[in-house]
Amino acid sequence: MTYKNILLDKEENLAVITINRPQVLNALNAELLHELEDAIENLATDSRVRVLILTGAGDKAFVAGADIAYMQNMTVSEGKEFGLLGQRVFKMIEDFPKPTIAAVNGYALGGGCELAMVCDIRVASDNAKFGQPEVSLGIIPGFGGTQRLVRLVGPGKAKELIYTGEIIDAQTAFQIGLVNHVVKQDELLSFAKELAKRIVGNAPLALRYAKEAINNGMEMDLERGLMLEANLFGVCFSSLDQKEGMKAFLERRKPSFQGK
Ligand code: CAA
Repeated sequence: MTYKNILLDKEENLAVITINRPQVLNALNAELLHELEDAIENLATDSRVRVLILTGAGDKAFVAGADIAYMQNMTVSEGKEFGLLGQRVFKMIEDFPKPTIAAVNGYALGGGCELAMVCDIRVASDNAKFGQPEVSLGIIPGFGGTQRLVRLVGPGKAKELIYTGEIIDAQTAFQIGLVNHVVKQDELLSFAKELAKRIVGNAPLALRYAKEAINNGMEMDLERGLMLEANLFGVCFSSLDQKEGMKAFLERRKPSFQGK
């Protein structure tokens, strides 16, 4: 598939997807979501890619939400279909079998905040702004915001943000746990890449199982979550990476992992 609305770059073990509709602050329409879905599907099975970074084109917006002009005249069923498409693609990103980092380079509103939230780690530039302003448009968050914001910042703060539609700055987002780091805008991508490089050296299968245990465990009670962890911990011992990791430790050298 050729992409008109996203850019895909690969360098060493990193892939960077840039949402690329800067003329509308990278707003999301169905065509863009289908391209994102295709890219994610391909990157999931590309063994050279070990970490994925998502960012937005330009210095103003990560993603300013779903495309309002595109949604304006939707019927009930079209609205639901669009919501399901966004939810499906975002769930694929959440379940992506490798770590993901959102490099939030400006507005992350509505669907943009929702996109950042499906990434494992969020790094924001100091000019970034976050919010779920949907109720000001007569709709509700539709790509997972009502579910994931609560899980990240708790129901009280999530309800306040969604009910008021208030837009918060990067520092406030950091204070409420919505982002992991705030850095200067011109350092954002290099910071995200440095963070990615700290992850890349670790065992790919172990990273995948750790993500699976965390993501799936959050939806379970502690007892089941711990059982899931024990099962995946056990599975690690079937991998060459476990053998290499422990052997390298005992031989006092750096491990060389193959993701097998
Ligand atoms: N959809 C479509 N176009 C958008 C857009 C969006 N979400 N956000 C910005 N744009 C367009 C503007 O219409 C404008 O286009 P023109 O130049 O053709 O007029 C261009 O991008 C630049 O935007 P502004 O002139 O508005 O820029 P600004 O600096 O004055 O304001 C902003 C920036 C505060 C982000 C403002 O653009 C804004 O409020 N955008 C909408 C944010 C929003 O409500 N997002 C939620 C969408 S609904 C959603 O996402 C549902 C869901 O959960 C899936």
